[in-house]
Amino acid sequence: MKIYLAPMDGVVDSIMREALTNVGGFDYCVTEFLRVTGQVCPEHMFFRYCPELEQEAQTKSKTPVHFQLLGGNPELLAQNAAIAVKLGAPSIDLNFGCPAKTVNKHDGGAFLLQFPDRIFNIIKAVRQAVAQPTPVSAKIRLGYEDKNLVIENSQAVEEAGASWLVVHARTKVEGYKPPAHWEWIARIKEKLSLPVIANGDIWTLDDYLECSRITQCEDVMLGRGAISCPDLALQIKKHKAGEEYLPYTWKEVQPLVKQMFHQCWAFGNARYPVTRTKQWSKFLSRNYPEALELFENIKRHRDPEPIAQIIENSVSKKHIP
Ligand SMILES: Cc1cc2nc3c(=O)[nH]c(=O)nc-3n(C[C@H](O)[C@H](O)[C@H](O)COP(=O)(O)O)c2cc1C
Repeated sequence: MKIYLAPMDGVVDSIMREALTNVGGFDYCVTEFLRVTGQVCPEHMFFRYCPELEQEAQTKSKTPVHFQLLGGNPELLAQNAAIAVKLGAPSIDLNFGCPAKTVNKHDGGAFLLQFPDRIFNIIKAVRQAVAQPTPVSAKIRLGYEDKNLVIENSQAVEEAGASWLVVHARTKVEGYKPPAHWEWIARIKEKLSLPVIANGDIWTLDDYLECSRITQCEDVMLGRGAISCPDLALQIKKHKAGEEYLPYTWKEVQPLVKQMFHQCWAFGNARYPVTRTKQWSKFLSRNYPEALELFENIKRHRDPEPIAQIIENSVSKKHIP
């Protein structure tokens, strides 16, 4: 079985990929989407979205990083995909799931789920521009406003030659509102012969087991669940291997937050460690009450210095079991 770390714009950048793949359990990561509008992107953009291109497109723990593109123009996407591969991307993923208004106005993401023929044309063009055996994959939602075209869209993905399909089990209109409709992934999987990867609302090991029972997919993609529970992929892998495993306590998560904070700070932009640490501690507070305490303590600070001190104090605080 394979576990993918989901692309998450503004959340899963190279620093988060490094932190989570170091914990373990992930087989692949995917970059945030690079939007392709009206031109071939300059090479530095590819390195900005995927600094791992400098290190064989792998995280420090050797997890391959796939490159995600978003757009509506087959030829331009094909040209940009070819550049990503030339720069070392091991795989190209095409985003047909992004619900953001700015994205849809620019013609891409979930907007295209209304047009199966356009999805077909885009994947076909990218497939032709990227030499085998480099994979080309697609990530879709169940539809735009409703689920009427989901099978047609999925078949378009397969017929165009995609290597696998990731399905986030919601429509664009459903946004991120629970529940994810895993039963639809089972319907899609039944109709296709290419590998299908299930995605949406896997927050715990039990969610994984239920999702994989309903969808019949062993392979999954974890997004918010992995940010909220950094060892979720590892918990799943250990369970599948029949090995005893004690999930991370806050004591094990804390150094990850500290390291992420300092790596972001080292980038030179003072806002970056501040916003990312607030964001991650909020996600983590779903599983760790101590993370909520951290969030409450840092939320009013705008500069990294006091946050560094708060993190330091909380790391050195004695933990009473
Ligand atoms: C903040 C945020 C940013 C996201 N950015 C992307 C993106 O860049 N590309 C993409 O394909 N999906 C993106 N997604 C969707 C996730 O990859 C995933 O499909 C979705 O969150 C459902 O999975 P989850 O319940 O495991 O989080 C994003 C989701 C969130 C919450």
